[in-house]
Parts: sequence; C-alpha cells; structure tokens
Amino acid sequence: METSRRPDHEPATPSPGGGSPQARAEPVLAGRTALVTGAAGGIGRACALALAAAGAHVHVVDRAGEAAKRLAEEIGGTPWVVDLSDPAVVDTLPAGADVVVNNAGLQHVAPVHEFPPDRFALIQRVMVETPFRILRRTLPGMYERGWGRVVNISSVHGLRASPYKSAYVTAKHALEGLSKVVALEAAEHGVTSNCVSPGYVRTPLVENQIADQARAHGISEADVVGRVMLERSAVKRLIEPADVAEAVLWLCGPHTGHITGTSLSMDGGWTAN
Ligand SMILES: NC(=O)c1ccc[n+]([C@@H]2O[C@H](COP(=O)([O-])OP(=O)(O)OC[C@H]3O[C@@H](n4cnc5c(N)ncnc54)[C@H](O)[C@@H]3O)[C@@H](O)[C@H]2O)c1
Repeated sequence: METSRRPDHEPATPSPGGGSPQARAEPVLAGRTALVTGAAGGIGRACALALAAAGAHVHVVDRAGEAAKRLAEEIGGTPWVVDLSDPAVVDTLPAGADVVVNNAGLQHVAPVHEFPPDRFALIQRVMVETPFRILRRTLPGMYERGWGRVVNISSVHGLRASPYKSAYVTAKHALEGLSKVVALEAAEHGVTSNCVSPGYVRTPLVENQIADQARAHGISEADVVGRVMLERSAVKRLIEPADVAEAVLWLCGPHTGHITGTSLSMDGGWTAN
C-alpha cells in the first residue's frame, strides 16, 4: 500500500518556473485581497500560501493565534485571531475580500443516537452559518467591483455519506447547497462560487487519525489508509494539501469565469462508485 508523500511514479506537480510555489506562481491575483478561514494549518495554510504566491494580500483567519500570526508574517498578510464558532465575530472581519475561501472545519465521529447535540450545533455553526455570514458580508463588495471568487472547501462528504459523521456530512451537504445558491445570485456580478471536494488529505488531523486507528485495530498505518480510509477511493493515496490549494488557485484564476455552482471532486474516484 502506497502511503509515501510522493510515489516514485508520480512526479510533483510541474512548476513552470521551478523552485518554491512563491517563486513559480504567476501573479494572477496581484492587487486582489483574499480571506481564508482556518488558514493557520492544513489545507487552509496551503491555500493561503498559494494565493499569496499568486499576488493576493491574504487575511489569515484562525483561532490558532500564534500559527496565524507566523503565517501572516511569512506571506505579508494580515492575521485575524478569532473563534468562528461565534458567528458574530464575522462582523469584525474585513468585508473587502475579492476571494473568499471558506475552509475552517472540524470533525466529530459518533453514531446519531449518541451524537452530542452541542457538538452537532457547533459543527453547523463553524461549517455552515459562518460561511453564510462571511459571504453575506463580502459579496456586496465583490458585486460593486464586478469580480469575485468564492471557494468553499467541502469534501467527498458533501457528496456522499459515511456512517458516524452525521454533523460533518450534514454540514458539507449544506455548504454545497449554499455554494450553488451563491453561484446563481452572483453570476451577473462577475462572481463565481464553487466547492472543492477532496477525499482524505494529508493534514495533521488525518495523520493523527491514521496512527490512532492503526493502534486501535492492530493493523499497519498503510492498511489504515488503503483499506479503511480509502476503501471507496480508486486512488489509494492521501491527497497533499498543496494539491487542493492548486485547485483553489485555479478556480480563482483567469480561465474559470464559466465554472460556477459546481463541485470539483478530488476524491481519487470515490464518487465514481
Ligand atoms: N483533511 C481532510 O482529509 C479533509 C478532506 C476533505 C475536506 N476537508 C476539509 O478541509 C477543511 C480544512 O481541513 P484540514 O484537514 O486542513 O483541518 P485542520 O484541522 O488541519 O485545520 C483546520 C484549521 O481550522 C481552524 N479552525 C477550526 N475551528 C475553528 C474555529 N472555530 N475558529 C477558527 N478557526 C478554526 C483550526 O485552528 C485549523 O487551523 C475543513 O473544512 C475540512 O472539513 C478536509
């Protein structure tokens, strides 16, 4: 089972100019401002790096204060240390973003009859209500300027269900719906709205789950990835955060004005089943 970061037969994403993302990116977002939630770690951090490398000023929104500040300093962005489980904090965030990446999220695994209602409500707040409020706040500016890109980080679980993930699956399906409504409303203003919907991505959250499950089931980490997590995926490898970020960046680029109201599945064939 393949679990290495990059298998030998699959080269890293070609980089036209070579070198780091910062060195190779075309400045397609020069003069634009991006707001990324959950930007201090995992997929959000990769998105912030990619958008900044493409020239955007990035608002790094996360409750992890130190990491958010470090990243903002690294990319010349602005940190916003807020807890997005309080939807009212959205009113304190900048309204002037041209690009919004709704990414912050969390998981809780339990059968419905044991699922803590508070936890269910928290997940809907962070992953549905807060994205709605952020869009409610930022869309008018995009409409005024006649250009905008909304990218909602959904999941294969926005398109398919799995047991024990009721709150997460509910929230991601809702986010897919919100994204489509925004696409319909925003089209006449030059604003697109899409989801990027990955399978399992190699973030610290997932790497910890692999180790835990290997211990719990008494199987190897490779078997946890291949047989448990990626059972329904044809590609038996985790996705890298940078690959998700490249998809996000592409949706924010110059050739995607007709791509709206859709989900870009990055699930190794999971939804082909
Ligand atoms: N990792 C995966 O396999 C995977 C797959 C599909 C979709 N996703 C989605 O991608 C997004 C990012 O996931 P990740 O794996 O990078 O997660 P992560 O846990 O590595 O990072 C999430 C970030 O969001 C921040 N965050 C969480 N709750 C917050 C809150 N209440 N207020 C402010 N910040 C908060 C965290 O501090 C962290 O920096 C989520 O929406 C997740 O559902 C992840």
